[in-house]
Amino acid sequence: MAGIRSYNRRVLVTGGAGFLGSHLCERLLARGDEVVCVDNYFTGARANIAHLLGNPRFEAIRHDVTFPLYVEVDEIYNLACPASPIHYQHDPVQTTKTSVHGAINMLGLAKRLNARILQASTSEVYGDPVVHPQPEEYWGNVNPIGPRSCYDEGKRCAETLFFDYHRQHRVQIKVMRIFNTYGPRMHPNDGRVVSNFIMQALRGEPITVYGDGAQTRSFCYVDDLIDGMMRLMDSDPGVTGPINIGNPGEFTMLELAERVIALTGSHSAIEHRLLPQDDPRQRRPDITKAKTLLGWEPAVPLHEGLARTIDDFRHRFFA
Ligand SMILES: NC(=O)c1ccc[n+]([C@@H]2O[C@H](COP(=O)([O-])OP(=O)(O)OC[C@H]3O[C@@H](n4cnc5c(N)ncnc54)[C@H](O)[C@@H]3O)[C@@H](O)[C@H]2O)c1
Repeated sequence: MAGIRSYNRRVLVTGGAGFLGSHLCERLLARGDEVVCVDNYFTGARANIAHLLGNPRFEAIRHDVTFPLYVEVDEIYNLACPASPIHYQHDPVQTTKTSVHGAINMLGLAKRLNARILQASTSEVYGDPVVHPQPEEYWGNVNPIGPRSCYDEGKRCAETLFFDYHRQHRVQIKVMRIFNTYGPRMHPNDGRVVSNFIMQALRGEPITVYGDGAQTRSFCYVDDLIDGMMRLMDSDPGVTGPINIGNPGEFTMLELAERVIALTGSHSAIEHRLLPQDDPRQRRPDITKAKTLLGWEPAVPLHEGLARTIDDFRHRFFA
């Protein structure tokens, strides 16, 4: 269970102007923390944090985490990294550098400051899993030389670094494996399935489903995800993770397309396309650890989260 902590801390959020980071900054400020948001705005946007800039407890710094950073904080959430295939494949070398050098720089900072540090890792460390659903003990099935490897292997190496800093330097680490998350402020053109389907439905364009659409994914609403992230950071020091945070509810891509069409009231048709290389057939988190160690489980059902996300997309792009 989450341990007792004093609030009003100074918290560093790398990638704080991104989709998840901006929600995290908002939640930390809401509970009284001071937030230092660091971002190079590669995939994030100032618009995501514009509403926070007037808050005297919020500070935004333009910085690339592949370079060292010197700030004084009590806790570090390391989220900086492009997260969607379109973005992380745009400059794969920089993606690996962001994960690996970024982790080294942030872990070095945590070591110097004796600060707790949380890593936003990913279900992609499981690759194309042969174990289903995936418990944290599963080592994964990852292609080390494919187009997705810069992200998958970068995140795996970052996990290695976290555990080595923990064993070698006693840094207090928290490693969180995030499964597909969706919600307001998702990037509209990142090629991720939820944003793709919503944009296509709202434009009245055909909804593109890869392969036969029978591949499954689980989708966690952003508020649930951030709740799990903060609980993990606040958990007892012995809880290092890795811990899966995601929604185990499984849906096929075809089901998701149909739900989006129904909720938007769109007349879009469904169109099938070739399955991309290394696209996993199914992925679903085993969240037993999150339930027992953090008392966490997702609360927002897919139809409700989708409705809120569609609302946000309508306001941002179709108002
Ligand atoms: N959204 C998901 O479903 C999901 C799933 C698994 C893991 N994650 C992880 O969570 C984190 C946040 O993901 P997101 O969905 O918010 O993506 P995002 O692209 O919206 O946010 C990433 C942020 O990091 C910033 N960034 C990228 N490279 C940087 C660098 N070198 N220096 C400083 N800032 C940099 C970007 O500008 C952006 O603001 C990522 O580490 C991602 O790998 C997300």
